[in-house]
Amino acid sequence: MQLFDLCTYTVRLTNQTDFEGWRDAARNLVLNDVEPQEIAWVVDATDHAASQLPAAPTGSQLKVSRDFVERAEMASCHSDPERFALLYRMLWRMRSEAELLKIASDPDVRRFEAMERAVGRDMHKMRAFVRFREIDEGEDARYVAWFEPDHFIVGRNAPFFVRRFTGMRWSILTPLLCAHWDKIELTFTPGADKRSAPADDTTEALWRTYYENIFNPARLKTKAMQKEMPKKYWRNLPEAPLIPNLVAGADAAAREMIAKMPTAPAPHHAKVQAKHWPTSPARATSDDGVDADSIAKLRKAAEGCRRCPLWREATQTVFGEGPDGAAAVFVGEQPGDQEDIAGKPFVGPAGKVFDAVLEEAAIDRRKIYITNAVKHFKFEPRGKRRIHSKPNAGEIQACRWWLDKELELTKPGLVVALGATAAQSLLGKAIPITRMRGQMIEREDGLHIFLTIHPSFILRIRDTADKQAERDRFLRDMQAVKALMAS
Ligand code: URA
Repeated sequence: MQLFDLCTYTVRLTNQTDFEGWRDAARNLVLNDVEPQEIAWVVDATDHAASQLPAAPTGSQLKVSRDFVERAEMASCHSDPERFALLYRMLWRMRSEAELLKIASDPDVRRFEAMERAVGRDMHKMRAFVRFREIDEGEDARYVAWFEPDHFIVGRNAPFFVRRFTGMRWSILTPLLCAHWDKIELTFTPGADKRSAPADDTTEALWRTYYENIFNPARLKTKAMQKEMPKKYWRNLPEAPLIPNLVAGADAAAREMIAKMPTAPAPHHAKVQAKHWPTSPARATSDDGVDADSIAKLRKAAEGCRRCPLWREATQTVFGEGPDGAAAVFVGEQPGDQEDIAGKPFVGPAGKVFDAVLEEAAIDRRKIYITNAVKHFKFEPRGKRRIHSKPNAGEIQACRWWLDKELELTKPGLVVALGATAAQSLLGKAIPITRMRGQMIEREDGLHIFLTIHPSFILRIRDTADKQAERDRFLRDMQAVKALMAS
């Protein structure tokens, strides 16, 4: 005999996250005064119609706080099979115990809160540890990731990945549910077997190099890392084999990094902002530069840009600069900490590497136009520091408006894309830079784009020999650019 044979009512929910099904049934049952122990909650996709519930009494209304409904929806993603029964018991009790949620010592409330926390943690881990691997599907690559959640969080978390990776076709496969995004529609399929996810590919080797270079030893807290990154996630992270070595060298590397720390946030941030937005920082831009017939006018128009939210935290728009009739336009990613303060592109550490290599390649910086794909500094505050954060596809797309106008006015014979963000902005799609660097691409409108790495890539390499080798390759790319500029 099963539990639901003993209960008066069996509610059959269509899937593990059928919160709407629970809510409709629960409302009906509470209004009919059905006690919690009379109900069996089962998830049964095949037999949904079999729930035989009493009709809701006419004219009766159930008042439930929005806070409870939102929190219950979160808790309903927990994998505990008793969760729907617990939620109903709480709903039932709240009719006579209006302040139930405030009683932290109540066993039901404690369990409810623990579920909410566990779901939140699992969602956070999925966001942090999903690693996409590229699979070759002809023209348009697909990125596939494997993840093993503890709870039913895939549906709830999928919109985050849509926002974060809008311009990519991706699938996140999990044993519970799979999410797919084709750049237009988000769809779900039943849980998958790990063998469906690609195990290794070129992206993985690239990712390992990348991780090694972005690894910040000053941020390393081994205990916290182990707590945050349980062993089960390590299995799926391509960078996991690197971690023991990186951890071992962390102390010396941390001292070196602290010595090179970026400056504190701009002390005159507010003053500079006030200069550019004298009325109110929230004022929408009134000038999008459509009529600008010179770079100077375009730069002025871009001062009040609100095309994406990055303007809020940045000190100012950092626009391109260079002479009229420049022989080539160089496009970087976005201003960094020092550029944001100075209002000029490539004046910080990456700019210094860039300048030195340009000089060796006999390219006169005063004769080229230098700009960025994104014109505001995107960062995450860490104490007093501002840590560079990569612009997303939406921000790149929003700022492309300005880059297109700069190209329209400068009419360059040659454009140099410094790194993946610049290439994505110029070509409208993600480009594997390390594979394609040194190549020239002709855009449909005839624009010639030379692809190379971003100079900050060199800065992040810690091994001296590797660093020198990468700098030499960048110099060779710049020498090729010099030859193209002369031709
Ligand atoms: N990196 C960039 O891409 N641009 C700058 O202006 C500085 C650093």
